[in-house]
This record gives sequence, C-alpha cells and structure tokens, in this order.
Amino acid sequence: MKGVILAGGLGKRLYPLTKITNKHLLPIYNKPMIYYPIETLIDAGIKDILIVTGGNHAGEFLRLLGNGKQFGLKHINYTYQEGEGGIAQALGLARHFADNDKITVILGDNIIEKSIKKAVADFKKQPKGAKILIKKVPDPERFGVVEFDEKMRISGITEKPKHAKSDYSVTGIYMYDKDVFDIIDTLKPSKRGELEITDVNNAYLRSKTLTYNMLEGWWTDSGTFESLLRANTLAAKKDKRRAQK
Ligand code: DAU
Repeated sequence: MKGVILAGGLGKRLYPLTKITNKHLLPIYNKPMIYYPIETLIDAGIKDILIVTGGNHAGEFLRLLGNGKQFGLKHINYTYQEGEGGIAQALGLARHFADNDKITVILGDNIIEKSIKKAVADFKKQPKGAKILIKKVPDPERFGVVEFDEKMRISGITEKPKHAKSDYSVTGIYMYDKDVFDIIDTLKPSKRGELEITDVNNAYLRSKTLTYNMLEGWWTDSGTFESLLRANTLAAKKDKRRAQK
C-alpha cells in the first residue's frame, strides 16, 4: 500500500496566514501541520509516500522535509498541482506514483487522535473498490455527509449539504484501488469549480464497491480559523498525555 498526502490548494479561508506560506506549513501546536498526516501514514505502516503540493510556497516543503530522515524515511516523493482544481484533481497527479497499487489518501489538513492501522489492514484484504473513514460530528454541513439505509449501508454522499441527512461526515482519509484514476478522468467540475472527491466516492458507491470504517478517537480538519484553533488544542492535549505516559 502506498500513501498520498494532498497538500495543494491555496488555503484562502486562512488568509492572511496563508499569504506568505502554505497552509500545511502552519504550526499545529509544536509541529508543522504536514507532520501529522505523514505520521498517520507511517504509524499505519505506509512508508512509500507522495506529497502533492501547490501554490507559491511549494519549495518550502523540500526544505522542511527533505527525504524524510526525521520520520525514519529514506525518501519522499513530491509533485506539484497548478491552481486549486479540487481534491480529486490533486489526487489525479498521483497516477504515475501509484503504479496500479492500492493507495491510502489523506488530506494534508486532517489531524487525528488514534491509528488507522485497522482500516488499512481491512482495505488490504478488500478485493477491489474503495474505503472511506467516517466520523460523527456536530457540524456535518461543513463536510461530505453520508446517508445510510436501514441496514447502516451507505446509500449516498452529499458534499456540504444545506441540511445534513445524518451526523456522519466523510473524513479526509480515503483508500482506493487502481480504478480511482479512471474515475477521476470522467469527473466534471462542481459548482465551486473543483473536481470533487465526493463524486469519486459516489462512483464507487454506484459500483457497489465502497466500504467504510468508523474512525476511532477525535478527528478535525484545520482549514478554518476555528478548526485550526481546535486542532492546536487537541494536538497539545494529545502530546501532553503522551509525555505523561
Ligand atoms: O476534511 C474533510 C473534508 O474535506 C470532506 O468531508 C469533504 O468531503 C471534502 O470535500 C473536503 O472538504 P473541504 O472543502 O474542507 O476541503 P478543502 O478545500 O479545505 O481541502 C482540504 C485539503 O485538500 C487541503 O488541505 C489540501 C487538499 N487540496 C484541496 C484542494 C481544493 C488539494 O490538494 N488541492 C486542491 O485543489
């Protein structure tokens, strides 16, 4: 299994913080934001990692991370997204790197408490398709929202609905087989002008190969001032707990 971290986009919701740097280089407590998704992948046993970056400050990733020595890696792969055509467009740039392997994808601004080891192990056994990690949240309208049938099977996913049909949001952690790149090639830009990852997940749902795991522990994105503050607080608490152990 290979890992892809999506750290492109322009981070406009955090302006002016993102005027002179990339969102994923901003601090979350005592580390740059991008450290967290890297550590999430490595903890799950994924060491072959591609970072998709973009914007005006992409060179800083190389200066910060180099070949990943501080994470015990020998090498990190990088690629560059021009503009901000959406999460699915950024993922499309990983086709060559994935080289027909299964991939675990994590959004560069997603911070979690616990491990995704079990979900990764489950997906390794899944013959084909995709897996999403979902989480109950108080503000589902901010995210992709999952709808269920009476047997708690996913029946649809809606991106940022006005009125959410459940409290379960799609986190920014996704697992895909090699078909994901052919699906991305068929996508049309949404109303906000982006290739949406929700459209990718709905395509897998239509082919009946989309599974899900519930994400354990807390989860937050960090792309707004409010969620950036929450990410800092949660990361600080986690770090203090670890230090006490
Ligand atoms: O955090 C989970 C949510 O992430 C999901 O529930 C939504 O379904 C999904 O669409 C996404 O929602 P956001 O609108 O909050 O995503 P945002 O535009 O903030 O982008 C999240 C990360 O994705 C960002 O930190 C970097 C990466 N990205 C985003 C865009 C738009 C790229 O690499 N390239 C892009 O063009």
